[in-house]
Amino acid sequence: MIKPHGSAELHPLYVADPAQREALTAEAERLPSLLLNSAAAANAVMLGAGYFNPLPGYMNLADSLSVADKLQTVDGLFWPVPIVNLTTATDIAAGSRIALRDPNVEGHPVLAIMDVEAVETVSDEQIDFIAEKVFRTLDPQHPGVATFKSLGQTLLSGPIEVLNFSYFQAEFPETFRTAYEIREEIASRGWNKVVAFQTRNPMHRAHEELCRMAMEDLGADGILIHMLLGKLKPGDIPADVRDAAIRKMVEVYFPANTVMVTGYGFDMLYAGPREAVLHAVFRQNCGCSHLIVGRDHAGVGDYYGGFDAQTVFDEEVPAGSLELEIYRADHTAYSKKLDRVVMMRDAPDHRPEDFVLLSGTKVREMLGNGIAPPPEFSRPEVAHILMEYYQRQP
Ligand code: ADX
Repeated sequence: MIKPHGSAELHPLYVADPAQREALTAEAERLPSLLLNSAAAANAVMLGAGYFNPLPGYMNLADSLSVADKLQTVDGLFWPVPIVNLTTATDIAAGSRIALRDPNVEGHPVLAIMDVEAVETVSDEQIDFIAEKVFRTLDPQHPGVATFKSLGQTLLSGPIEVLNFSYFQAEFPETFRTAYEIREEIASRGWNKVVAFQTRNPMHRAHEELCRMAMEDLGADGILIHMLLGKLKPGDIPADVRDAAIRKMVEVYFPANTVMVTGYGFDMLYAGPREAVLHAVFRQNCGCSHLIVGRDHAGVGDYYGGFDAQTVFDEEVPAGSLELEIYRADHTAYSKKLDRVVMMRDAPDHRPEDFVLLSGTKVREMLGNGIAPPPEFSRPEVAHILMEYYQRQP
């Protein structure tokens, strides 16, 4: 199987031994506490689950600036997005050991213990520098920029020990998986070539066929549908509804034992190209050999060109940085002429009207009015689940 990023073995920061975990949980009750923001909590979950291997904890300022600028830490580890614990708290001292509390679970239980190595103040210029590099914009309307700039300007760095997986394990017991669990399952299935499909949306026909095309073109053993389970911007479909729709689609339309439906606990950054590179890093960590990158991957609004998340791999990812390869998908849609879903680059004679193309807004409107999109766009079983959801909305 493909090696994890940056180390021969995966080193998840979750404390797997129950006795040790219990002792640390008891110790945490006596430590000073920090209530995390959701972004820092999501980073802890990803570190705990092994997705952010080989990072030992939250990055310091020098690493954050270096990663934002050059996609590598000061020590030269390839990494595309700063993994930080930015806070508005002012009472944490360097050298202290603290309990990190979970903002997303009632009662704010301890999520992790942190040994604070440094407490640094990030200047306005440095915040803007990082945001501009990662999001390619400073527009406050960009949801990722808005979130990042609201986190605070005190940067706590140092190693962490993770004690649980926040709400993800309880809310998505069938779907949330750690990187090491996915590696184990890939191994037990005997898969070698595995294609990951990143998603934060329900899967329509185009997505389904993209998975099939990638499988066939690459001669892959299986597909890992790997959905984001964390926070999204308003209007995006909640994870439980999406999970149900995806599971139904896989059950009805894919042969048994060719697809793993899984999810990871992270908030969407909407960082387009940089997020696509982060996606590649953590899919390598969960044992995938390929990642599908299609149109406007991890994008939002019109901040990114349709295929910037592919060209970033040519422009900003030095050869040899990753073992995983990306599968570049062109805009995919149903062709009325050919009576099947195709990539547009494979149908050069087509005019736009030869495809079944529906905007997200149009699809939402139809579903909200109880009208199923045409079967060329959406499987009826998927449309049914989505219509039920939209019709429950006030
Ligand atoms: S993402 O933010 O998680 O990337 P989404 O769930 O919409 O968003 O997309 C999942 C994957 O499918 C991404 O790689 C995206 O580029 C790709 N994709 C979605 N729709 C299309 C399409 N019509 N044509 C080509 N690729 C697509």
